[in-house]
Amino acid sequence: MPINRINLTLISFLLITTLSACSTPEPELATEANANYNVDLNIAQLMSLVLEPASDMLWESGGWVLDAYGYEELYPTTDDGWAFVRAQAAIVVETGNMLALPGRAEDDDAWMIYSEGLSEAGIMAMEAAEAQDKEAFFQAGGQLYSVCTACHQSYSPDVASRFNNSAD
Ligand code: HEC
Repeated sequence: MPINRINLTLISFLLITTLSACSTPEPELATEANANYNVDLNIAQLMSLVLEPASDMLWESGGWVLDAYGYEELYPTTDDGWAFVRAQAAIVVETGNMLALPGRAEDDDAWMIYSEGLSEAGIMAMEAAEAQDKEAFFQAGGQLYSVCTACHQSYSPDVASRFNNSAD
Protein backbone atom coordinates (compact mmCIF):
# COMPACT_ATOMS: atom_id res chain seq x y z
CA MET A 1 0.00 0.00 0.00
CA PRO A 2 1.28 3.47 -0.79
CA ILE A 3 0.92 4.56 2.82
CA ASN A 4 3.19 1.76 4.00
CA ARG A 5 5.78 2.77 1.44
CA ILE A 6 5.64 6.34 2.64
CA ASN A 7 6.09 5.15 6.21
CA LEU A 8 9.04 2.99 5.23
CA THR A 9 10.66 5.88 3.42
CA LEU A 10 10.10 8.02 6.46
CA ILE A 11 11.57 5.38 8.75
CA SER A 12 14.66 4.91 6.57
CA PHE A 13 15.02 8.67 6.37
CA LEU A 14 14.87 8.94 10.15
CA LEU A 15 17.26 6.03 10.49
CA ILE A 16 19.74 7.63 8.13
CA THR A 17 19.44 10.94 9.91
CA THR A 18 19.98 9.29 13.29
CA LEU A 19 22.92 7.26 12.03
CA SER A 20 24.60 10.24 10.47
CA ALA A 21 24.17 12.19 13.66
CA CYS A 22 26.35 9.79 15.65
CA SER A 23 28.68 8.21 13.07
CA THR A 24 29.62 8.29 9.40
CA PRO A 25 26.51 8.25 7.24
CA GLU A 26 25.77 4.88 5.61
CA PRO A 27 22.68 5.56 3.53
CA GLU A 28 23.00 2.39 1.38
CA LEU A 29 23.26 0.22 4.45
CA ALA A 30 20.11 1.63 6.03
CA THR A 31 18.13 1.18 2.83
CA GLU A 32 19.33 -2.40 2.41
CA ALA A 33 18.44 -3.27 5.98
CA ASN A 34 14.89 -2.10 5.36
CA ALA A 35 14.56 -4.17 2.20
CA ASN A 36 16.05 -7.22 3.86
CA TYR A 37 12.98 -8.93 5.31
CA ASN A 38 13.28 -12.59 6.06
CA VAL A 39 10.60 -14.28 3.99
CA ASP A 40 11.98 -17.82 4.25
CA LEU A 41 8.62 -19.04 5.49
CA ASN A 42 6.43 -19.45 2.44
CA ILE A 43 2.72 -18.63 2.46
CA ALA A 44 1.70 -22.21 3.28
CA GLN A 45 4.05 -22.25 6.31
CA LEU A 46 2.92 -18.86 7.50
CA MET A 47 -0.66 -20.10 7.26
CA SER A 48 -0.24 -23.45 8.97
CA LEU A 49 2.41 -22.51 11.57
CA VAL A 50 1.48 -18.96 12.54
CA LEU A 51 -1.98 -17.86 11.42
CA GLU A 52 -4.02 -21.03 11.73
CA PRO A 53 -3.01 -21.94 15.31
CA ALA A 54 -3.78 -18.40 16.50
CA SER A 55 -7.09 -18.23 14.62
CA ASP A 56 -8.15 -21.66 15.83
CA MET A 57 -7.56 -20.50 19.36
CA LEU A 58 -9.88 -17.55 18.75
CA TRP A 59 -12.61 -19.68 17.17
CA GLU A 60 -12.36 -22.24 19.94
CA SER A 61 -12.80 -19.49 22.51
CA GLY A 62 -16.06 -18.04 21.23
CA GLY A 63 -19.64 -19.28 21.16
CA TRP A 64 -21.05 -22.47 22.52
CA VAL A 65 -20.75 -26.18 21.83
CA LEU A 66 -23.25 -28.92 22.42
CA ASP A 67 -21.67 -31.80 24.29
CA ALA A 68 -22.73 -34.60 26.60
CA TYR A 69 -23.45 -32.03 29.36
CA GLY A 70 -25.60 -29.77 27.19
CA TYR A 71 -24.57 -26.40 25.83
CA GLU A 72 -21.15 -25.42 27.03
CA GLU A 73 -19.92 -21.86 26.76
CA LEU A 74 -16.51 -21.54 25.15
CA TYR A 75 -15.66 -17.97 26.12
CA PRO A 76 -12.80 -17.39 28.54
CA THR A 77 -13.92 -17.17 32.14
CA THR A 78 -10.89 -15.49 33.71
CA ASP A 79 -8.83 -12.35 33.09
CA ASP A 80 -5.88 -14.56 32.14
CA GLY A 81 -8.06 -16.46 29.69
CA TRP A 82 -9.11 -13.22 27.97
CA ALA A 83 -5.50 -11.97 28.01
CA PHE A 84 -4.47 -15.17 26.28
CA VAL A 85 -7.02 -14.85 23.47
CA ARG A 86 -6.12 -11.18 23.11
CA ALA A 87 -2.52 -12.23 22.48
CA GLN A 88 -3.68 -14.72 19.82
CA ALA A 89 -5.62 -11.89 18.19
CA ALA A 90 -2.41 -9.82 18.16
CA ILE A 91 -0.72 -12.60 16.14
CA VAL A 92 -3.56 -12.34 13.62
CA VAL A 93 -3.09 -8.56 13.41
CA GLU A 94 0.61 -8.92 12.69
CA THR A 95 0.12 -11.77 10.23
CA GLY A 96 -1.76 -9.26 8.08
CA ASN A 97 1.50 -7.31 7.88
CA MET A 98 3.61 -10.41 7.26
CA LEU A 99 1.43 -11.34 4.30
CA ALA A 100 1.81 -7.86 2.85
CA LEU A 101 5.63 -7.96 2.84
CA PRO A 102 7.46 -7.70 -0.47
CA GLY A 103 8.38 -11.26 -1.40
CA ARG A 104 5.09 -12.56 -0.01
CA ALA A 105 2.39 -10.28 -1.38
CA GLU A 106 1.00 -11.78 -4.56
CA ASP A 107 -0.08 -8.41 -5.94
CA ASP A 108 -0.60 -4.82 -4.96
CA ASP A 109 -4.36 -5.04 -5.17
CA ALA A 110 -6.86 -7.47 -3.61
CA TRP A 111 -4.11 -9.34 -1.74
CA MET A 112 -3.29 -6.16 0.16
CA ILE A 113 -6.96 -5.52 0.92
CA TYR A 114 -7.39 -9.04 2.35
CA SER A 115 -4.17 -8.71 4.35
CA GLU A 116 -5.39 -5.46 5.80
CA GLY A 117 -8.81 -7.05 6.44
CA LEU A 118 -7.07 -9.77 8.41
CA SER A 119 -5.37 -7.19 10.62
CA GLU A 120 -8.66 -5.33 11.09
CA ALA A 121 -10.48 -8.50 12.18
CA GLY A 122 -7.61 -9.15 14.58
CA ILE A 123 -7.93 -5.65 16.03
CA MET A 124 -11.68 -6.21 16.51
CA ALA A 125 -10.93 -9.43 18.40
CA MET A 126 -8.25 -7.73 20.50
CA GLU A 127 -10.61 -4.93 21.49
CA ALA A 128 -13.40 -7.36 22.29
CA ALA A 129 -11.05 -9.48 24.41
CA GLU A 130 -9.84 -6.42 26.25
CA ALA A 131 -13.44 -5.41 27.00
CA GLN A 132 -14.32 -9.08 27.67
CA ASP A 133 -17.27 -8.48 25.36
CA LYS A 134 -18.52 -11.91 24.27
CA GLU A 135 -20.87 -10.70 21.56
CA ALA A 136 -18.20 -8.48 19.94
CA PHE A 137 -15.66 -11.28 20.25
CA PHE A 138 -17.98 -13.70 18.47
CA GLN A 139 -18.56 -11.19 15.68
CA ALA A 140 -14.82 -10.64 15.28
CA GLY A 141 -14.45 -14.41 14.86
CA GLY A 142 -17.05 -14.36 12.09
CA GLN A 143 -15.37 -11.43 10.38
CA LEU A 144 -12.03 -13.24 10.59
CA TYR A 145 -13.49 -16.35 9.01
CA SER A 146 -14.90 -14.39 6.09
CA VAL A 147 -11.50 -12.77 5.37
CA CYS A 148 -9.79 -16.20 5.31
CA THR A 149 -12.44 -17.54 2.98
CA ALA A 150 -12.44 -14.54 0.65
CA CYS A 151 -8.67 -14.61 0.19
CA HIS A 152 -8.58 -18.37 -0.35
CA GLN A 153 -11.37 -18.14 -2.92
CA SER A 154 -9.36 -15.58 -4.89
CA TYR A 155 -5.85 -16.98 -4.50
CA SER A 156 -6.14 -20.64 -3.61
CA PRO A 157 -9.48 -22.21 -4.60
CA ASP A 158 -7.99 -25.56 -3.67
CA VAL A 159 -7.45 -24.45 -0.06
CA ALA A 160 -10.85 -22.75 -0.05
CA SER A 161 -12.63 -26.07 -0.60
CA ARG A 162 -10.46 -27.91 1.94
CA PHE A 163 -11.11 -25.14 4.43
CA ASN A 164 -14.88 -25.39 4.08
CA ASN A 165 -14.78 -29.14 4.54
CA SER A 166 -12.65 -29.00 7.67
CA ALA A 167 -14.88 -26.32 9.22
CA ASP A 168 -18.01 -28.43 8.77
C1 HEC B 1 -4.12 -12.57 1.89
C2 HEC B 1 -4.62 -13.86 1.55
C3 HEC B 1 -4.90 -14.90 2.61
C4 HEC B 1 -5.55 -14.73 3.80
C5 HEC B 1 -6.14 -13.46 4.38
C6 HEC B 1 -5.58 -16.02 4.42
N1 HEC B 1 -4.97 -16.95 3.65
FE1 HEC B 1 -4.65 -18.88 4.12
N2 HEC B 1 -3.76 -19.18 2.33
C7 HEC B 1 -3.54 -18.22 1.36
C8 HEC B 1 -2.88 -18.83 0.22
C9 HEC B 1 -2.47 -18.12 -1.06
C10 HEC B 1 -2.70 -20.19 0.52
C11 HEC B 1 -2.05 -21.28 -0.34
C12 HEC B 1 -0.59 -21.33 -0.02
C13 HEC B 1 0.14 -22.40 -0.82
O1 HEC B 1 -0.31 -23.54 -0.84
O2 HEC B 1 1.17 -22.05 -1.40
C14 HEC B 1 -3.27 -20.38 1.87
C15 HEC B 1 -3.27 -21.59 2.54
C16 HEC B 1 -3.79 -21.79 3.79
C17 HEC B 1 -3.74 -23.04 4.50
C18 HEC B 1 -3.13 -24.34 3.99
C19 HEC B 1 -1.67 -24.33 4.37
C20 HEC B 1 -0.94 -25.57 3.92
O3 HEC B 1 -0.26 -26.17 4.77
O4 HEC B 1 -1.07 -25.93 2.74
C21 HEC B 1 -4.36 -22.84 5.71
C22 HEC B 1 -4.57 -23.86 6.81
C23 HEC B 1 -4.77 -21.47 5.75
N3 HEC B 1 -4.41 -20.85 4.58
C24 HEC B 1 -5.42 -20.90 6.83
C25 HEC B 1 -5.86 -19.58 6.85
C26 HEC B 1 -6.64 -19.01 7.90
C27 HEC B 1 -7.11 -19.75 9.14
C28 HEC B 1 -6.87 -17.70 7.57
C29 HEC B 1 -7.64 -16.67 8.31
C30 HEC B 1 -7.49 -16.57 9.72
C31 HEC B 1 -6.21 -17.47 6.29
N4 HEC B 1 -5.62 -18.63 5.89
C32 HEC B 1 -6.18 -16.25 5.65
C33 HEC B 1 -3.88 -16.90 1.45
C34 HEC B 1 -4.54 -16.30 2.52
